[in-house]
Amino acid sequence: MSSDTAAIEHAARLLEQGKLVAFPTETVYGLGADASHPDAVAAIFAAKGRPSNHPVIVHVARDADLSRWTPHLPHEAQQLIDAFWPGPLTLILRRAPQVPAAVAGGQDTLGLRCPAHPVAQALLRAFRDGQGGLAAPSANRFGRVSPTTAQHVIDEFGAPGIGPLAAVLDGGHCEVGIESTIVDLSRLDTHGPVLLRPGHISAAQIAAVIGRMPALPDHAAPRVSGSLDAHYAPTTPVALVDRAALPSTMQQLQARGRSFALIAYSEDFSAIHGMHLPDHTDGYAHGLYASLREMDARDADVILVERPPQHAAWQGINDRLRRAAFDSAGVLDKLL
Ligand code: TXA
Ligand code: MG
Repeated sequence: MSSDTAAIEHAARLLEQGKLVAFPTETVYGLGADASHPDAVAAIFAAKGRPSNHPVIVHVARDADLSRWTPHLPHEAQQLIDAFWPGPLTLILRRAPQVPAAVAGGQDTLGLRCPAHPVAQALLRAFRDGQGGLAAPSANRFGRVSPTTAQHVIDEFGAPGIGPLAAVLDGGHCEVGIESTIVDLSRLDTHGPVLLRPGHISAAQIAAVIGRMPALPDHAAPRVSGSLDAHYAPTTPVALVDRAALPSTMQQLQARGRSFALIAYSEDFSAIHGMHLPDHTDGYAHGLYASLREMDARDADVILVERPPQHAAWQGINDRLRRAAFDSAGVLDKLL
């Protein structure tokens, strides 16, 4: 596992042969395959255990020719690309006819993203002379917590050669830590821009660039598996608990002989199996998935998470926590 030039060149050749390679991005690690190779794309779905009607994002190099992927780049798309690429923003656009439908889960749209991580960019430049696309969902099993280190990827799929992966490039701990913001621009005429998944780039930042606030998804919006109610979830049940209720919840669990792990951002709380995340959004998002994995490994009855602030800046984090803790009330009811 490394990410020097030789390792990146080798990984690019493996991808050109239709193999699977995990690589770092600034958000989370991706499970990459050649987007123009339907069998390679099918191997991603098989490895993840992901339903085949869920579309994956296609990653492109900076300065890639986007007309290979979409027949029409709206003005708003160009504005967002100029402002945020390379970076943690995925655009949903109309799919060019030559792009395999398998990448898009059969839909007539396509998710495009240009990641900022230098290893991802180097890999995209080395792959098909910088003009290819790498289909890459987060490198975790379907529904589970996304990986933010190369070791997390190996924990999910096994070491390269043993499991389904031909190689894993190591780019350290992903800086952002939660998945890219997704904006749908494929139905601008009828629906305007739609925020399908909140992330590090906020709705307000998008509005500042395109001059209008993206709407929240409606029922006709394209499918996003990250928008399923239960997603990003550890094996141990997770309960999101308000700050004010946390002391009594911990006491009650203790009184009933239940074990718990705790993820808090206030210094007031601690536990034997406990971790603190920073009380600012960048640091919190950066550490969130690693802390969920670490607390999951303690085999407690429940992972308690101190509910973060509810303002707009925390939208991406709260979205992921809500899905990880999709049944907070039910989980605590069963234990108390
Ligand atoms: O930060 C990220 O976006 C990471 C890194 C690896 O780039 N990737 C990622 O991929 O989170 P994935 O597959 O775990 O989540 C991508 C989301 C899915 O929820 C998928 O449904 C949605 O993007 N998506 C992809 N193509 C789409 C399309 N054509 N229409 C609607 N949603 C789409
Ligand atoms: Mg995912």
